[in-house]
Amino acid sequence: MASKATNIHPVFDRILTRTDKEKMLNQRAKVIWLTGLSGSGKSTIAIGLERKLQEQGYLTQILDGDNVRTGINNNLGFSDEDRTENIRRIAEVSKLFLNCGIITINSFVSPTVAIREQARQIIGEEDFLEVYINVPLEVAEQRDVKGLYKKARAGEIKDFTGINAPFEAPENPFIVLNTHEMTKEESVEKLFQAVIGKVQYSG
Ligand code: ADX
Repeated sequence: MASKATNIHPVFDRILTRTDKEKMLNQRAKVIWLTGLSGSGKSTIAIGLERKLQEQGYLTQILDGDNVRTGINNNLGFSDEDRTENIRRIAEVSKLFLNCGIITINSFVSPTVAIREQARQIIGEEDFLEVYINVPLEVAEQRDVKGLYKKARAGEIKDFTGINAPFEAPENPFIVLNTHEMTKEESVEKLFQAVIGKVQYSG
């Protein structure tokens, strides 16, 4: 979406660069974007990955649907339009962290190819690592950690992803984690091994 404001004079050319900050932090910034059904394990994996990276001296920031929707995005619901705006703002916020040299771990249902494509465009192809947290709907529904599938089946939640709103699997993700076939520790380790080479500072 084009900017509504006119007469703006960005100062991008005068602020310290991302490269300066990455050097200071001794890391490369990336956005690790976890997508998957509600209850697939996104938040758990994000938290596990953050701990592991932290132990190795990496600075990270988790952005999570349930948190962000109580703050910056508390005026948005779950229509396609609102989800698109949700993800647009998240992607812009991620870019701010990226420019500060910080590894951002995002955990959002982000249910459609178009929504994630928008995020990829904003963040940039090079910096967007799409991680598909893949579980069959039956598994997520059986877990029903928050009791939302039950409510959706009872018709109490409309537009619930997987039940009466779509989820489109990523077409070409950086990595797929089948969390129902591994322990939590194995999933985190697999993701850690995949991202570590991307965030290591190489001078
Ligand atoms: S997204 O589709 O816009 O990416 P987001 O990740 O921010 O969604 O929020 C999803 C979380 O909101 C879910 O984990 C769930 O707890 C809650 N939620 C409430 N209503 C819905 C709904 N209709 N569809 C999906 N998730 C919902």
